[in-house]
Amino acid sequence: MYITLVICTCFVTVFSFPKGFISLVPIPSENFEFYDVLDTNKLFHLFWKFNETHITFELHAKTRGYIGFGLSPNGKMFPSDVVMGWVKNGNVHFADYHTTEHSAPVKDHSQDYTLLNGEENDFGTVLKFVRKLDTCDENDYRISDDTVRIIYAHSENDPNDENDLRWHGTESRGVKFMYLLNAVTKPDLSGNIITRDMTQTNVRLCFKDISKHF
Ligand code: HEM
Repeated sequence: MYITLVICTCFVTVFSFPKGFISLVPIPSENFEFYDVLDTNKLFHLFWKFNETHITFELHAKTRGYIGFGLSPNGKMFPSDVVMGWVKNGNVHFADYHTTEHSAPVKDHSQDYTLLNGEENDFGTVLKFVRKLDTCDENDYRISDDTVRIIYAHSENDPNDENDLRWHGTESRGVKFMYLLNAVTKPDLSGNIITRDMTQTNVRLCFKDISKHF
């Protein structure tokens, strides 16, 4: 499924990416169970996995500036639980914030997201981080198997420092409603299971469709 998506992404979006980025597709650092593209321009790619207590995200964004990623109760920028990070001169800056208005997020007293990796590569900027599903911090969103509203944003340039967080612009932010814990995954075929492939000819896919599930 991911391979199909990668190939289609190459063809459909080859002309729409900013200049200076060699790779058109993100390469995850490990074989994550879940993957989704957050925006229609295919600038934000999210890989994730979870267990009973923790969730690990790996966000790849086509930018050399900051990345903002958040969990929002209403799909708006605030009030939300967000992380922001960027890579400047080889150093990774990353922290747990929350939003209270349409301005720079406020750093949480309790830092509940742990950075596992941050880097710039041929695709853009990568942040990999882990948190508890329920951090017990009132400024963090409790992740359940309900629909989650993911918000995201990026800037073109790195901030000079933590006090220099600037507006992302209207084309570089958005929201996606999705399931994190209930996401569709491959069925477990390790047991004693009989499978049958059914094929159908003459099925038309819309230009935008990458695949169809029945
Ligand atoms: C860095 C400081 C930031 C500033 C100064 C800022 C400012 C703003 C402003 C003025 C708007 C309304 C105009 C518009 O539609 O673009 C807005 C909207 C939005 N922002 Fe931010 N923002 C910041 C960071 C972030 C971050 C980190 C995220 C995501 C994690 C985010 C997500 C959004 C979203 C999804 C919207 C559209 C929904 C809404 O209007 O609430 N912003 N932001």
